[in-house]
Amino acid sequence: MTDWRAKEAKYFMHAGRRMDLLAVRGEGTVIWDEHGKSYLDFFGGPATISLGHSHPVIVEALADQAKQLIHVSNQFYSIPQLQLAELLIEHSCFDRVYFMNSGAEANEGALKLARKWGKEKKHGAFEVIVAENAFHGRTLQMITAGGTERYKAPFTPLPEGFVRVPFNDVDAVKRATTGRTVAVFMEPIQGEGGINVPDDDYFKRLRAWCDEQHVLLILDEVQTGCGRLGTLFGYEFFGVEPDIITLGKGLGGGVPLSAFLAKEHCAVFTPGDHGSTYGGEPLTTRVGYEVMKYMVDNDLPAEVARKGKIVERRLNSLHDRFPNVQSVRGKGLMWAVQFSADIGERITNDALAHGLILNNVRPNAVRIVPPLTVSDEELEQGLAILEHVIEEDAKAQGTGAPALSPD
Ligand SMILES: Cc1ncc(COP(=O)(O)O)c(C=O)c1O
Repeated sequence: MTDWRAKEAKYFMHAGRRMDLLAVRGEGTVIWDEHGKSYLDFFGGPATISLGHSHPVIVEALADQAKQLIHVSNQFYSIPQLQLAELLIEHSCFDRVYFMNSGAEANEGALKLARKWGKEKKHGAFEVIVAENAFHGRTLQMITAGGTERYKAPFTPLPEGFVRVPFNDVDAVKRATTGRTVAVFMEPIQGEGGINVPDDDYFKRLRAWCDEQHVLLILDEVQTGCGRLGTLFGYEFFGVEPDIITLGKGLGGGVPLSAFLAKEHCAVFTPGDHGSTYGGEPLTTRVGYEVMKYMVDNDLPAEVARKGKIVERRLNSLHDRFPNVQSVRGKGLMWAVQFSADIGERITNDALAHGLILNNVRPNAVRIVPPLTVSDEELEQGLAILEHVIEEDAKAQGTGAPALSPD
């Protein structure tokens, strides 16, 4: 049998860590490894496999579109891109959309748009207010916008123009706002930062402040968009209309597709301002169109909201029963369990051994972001595995006492 792990060790540039799983097939919420062992995938990309693995709608769209037209330059019109554009605009509060390939690129596009808006409409304002613990991707500008120091340190000097404030603190944004401020740029719920949910009125108050100060509100919905929170877009969950949002991950359901959407007043690009060879090509936008159409036609967000209640109930019961569970937080199908010690990796590895894929999003927390199509039974099954693993860990560390870190 080919030793794929050895090949990885020999040929790959190691810029990240892998879990010990060689995935060879996926269907719905399940992944199979090379030995035929199945795993419930509560990681999903993360938060990317919105319709589950190899959903028939996606498989058919790929095959059909591949036969018709895979790629054509953006110097020409193509139908899937325009169908998806219409669907996104007609179901959102925005007026215009531009397609890219990854979340980081969509965010780059959104910030370029803001910069140009600042030049034209706000006397050259360019500074962007960003949050502690934010994650926006891995380009130079996005690691700068993000809040993780170790992602930045090897790559200095970094681009200018970012001011950092604590998340969920409107007064901090107010203090940081100056005549140079062009935008406030945040995730509705911080994903990589540990599923940090702001107060219900945070974005409403931020919206009011941005209006007062003539500052753009840009939401990075790469993780929270496309049904994840139980609304089609995360801004709806918080009851505000941003000026710009970015989408990625779940939009393509597993194919590389992202977008930024803007209100007319800040859709200031003119020909020559932006572009991408692959962004918006027929193959990926056809899939995006079918994914979003499926979500809308089947009211998937309502289903996500309902399933989110199941997760909430189960996780709250873990919190009530196990002293090593410090807190649980999330909305829709985006959750984290935080422990009283740095056991995230151990819990994730133990869960994997029991056939459940989680993500240790923080040293002391695991993230749960299953496909939006996960069944009630799969949710129950996966959460039962998590419960078992937490219980075993608590026992191994001494009954009733908070689990200790292995280090
Ligand atoms: C909120 C958010 N923004 C941006 C990104 C970056 O997306 P990509 O990896 O597709 O560039 C991510 C990825 O995890 C994300 O969670």
